[in-house]
Amino acid sequence: MKTAEDIAHYLKVQADIIENELDRLVPQRRGHYQELFESSRYALLGGGKRLRPILTLATAAMFGIDPRYVLTPACTLELIHTYSMIHDDLPCMDNDDYRRDKLTVHKKFSEGHAVLTGDYLLTYAFEILATDPHLPADKKVQLIATLARRSGGDGMIGGQVMDIACEGKKIPLETLQLLHRNKTGALLTAAVEFGGIIANATPIQLDSLRHFGESIGLAFQVIDDILDVTSSKAKHGKAFSSDIRNEKSTFISILGLDQARMYAAKFHNQATQSLKPLGLDTSRLEALADFVIRRVS
Ligand code: IPE
Ligand code: IPE
Ligand code: MG
Ligand code: MG
Ligand code: MG
Repeated sequence: MKTAEDIAHYLKVQADIIENELDRLVPQRRGHYQELFESSRYALLGGGKRLRPILTLATAAMFGIDPRYVLTPACTLELIHTYSMIHDDLPCMDNDDYRRDKLTVHKKFSEGHAVLTGDYLLTYAFEILATDPHLPADKKVQLIATLARRSGGDGMIGGQVMDIACEGKKIPLETLQLLHRNKTGALLTAAVEFGGIIANATPIQLDSLRHFGESIGLAFQVIDDILDVTSSKAKHGKAFSSDIRNEKSTFISILGLDQARMYAAKFHNQATQSLKPLGLDTSRLEALADFVIRRVS
């Protein structure tokens, strides 16, 4: 996988497979609370890069694992990611009106619905893992523990709490890195860990996957911060930077645009280095790391 066309084609094919699986996992249902499935499908389907499940699929493929055993657990990462985005956009958080070029869930439905849609996707992700028909019980427990830890207090939620607490403050670079590592890096790390766990990776291989996930997580959030100020219209379908409006502590507010770009390159380099101990063909993960820093949305 060498050229930009190769990776673009790969991403498109994987995203279509993931879209179909998400459609299957969250079908429209009729009845007293059908709005829950409407809003869930509205948030979940028809948009997004699907980077987290793609990372899981790519990692498992590197170990030669049949994708049939990986697709459903991989999609639970997209459910958690979507829940986190729905809550992130709420008026009490970033107060954004658009996501993926559509109205945010609280704008399209209501705030109450948005909270509950996020809660549902979060809870349902764990139900899917616990009831997976292919995975043995010990693997399910490992995946559930990993997902809970990475999206919990020492992971995504902890990072989101820091993100709010640091609004309007000038924080040291180390604090910002911890914030980014948790709010974004943790779930990206879980994505590659998922692939490794399902593939019976050795402890050394799992460690190197974790380092890779943490590094591309940092690179990913630096680029997210850059895109917020350079192309927020392309990112959110809105014209003005959400981070500036909310006085967020970001790589841009702390280092400026040029140094932020240098940091993204540094984390990208760390990511590719951390793949070395795997002893496998890592070209697909390297291509995904390239995509993370070259992306424009
Ligand atoms: C955006 O994530 C929020 C962050 C964690 C930085 P993505 O850029 O992966 O969003 P989608 O899923 O492609 O819309
Ligand atoms: C959100 O980060 C990270 C989450 C874990 C939800 P941002 O607030 O920077 O994400 P965007 O820019 O709204 O997509
Ligand atoms: Mg936010
Ligand atoms: Mg936000
Ligand atoms: Mg952002």
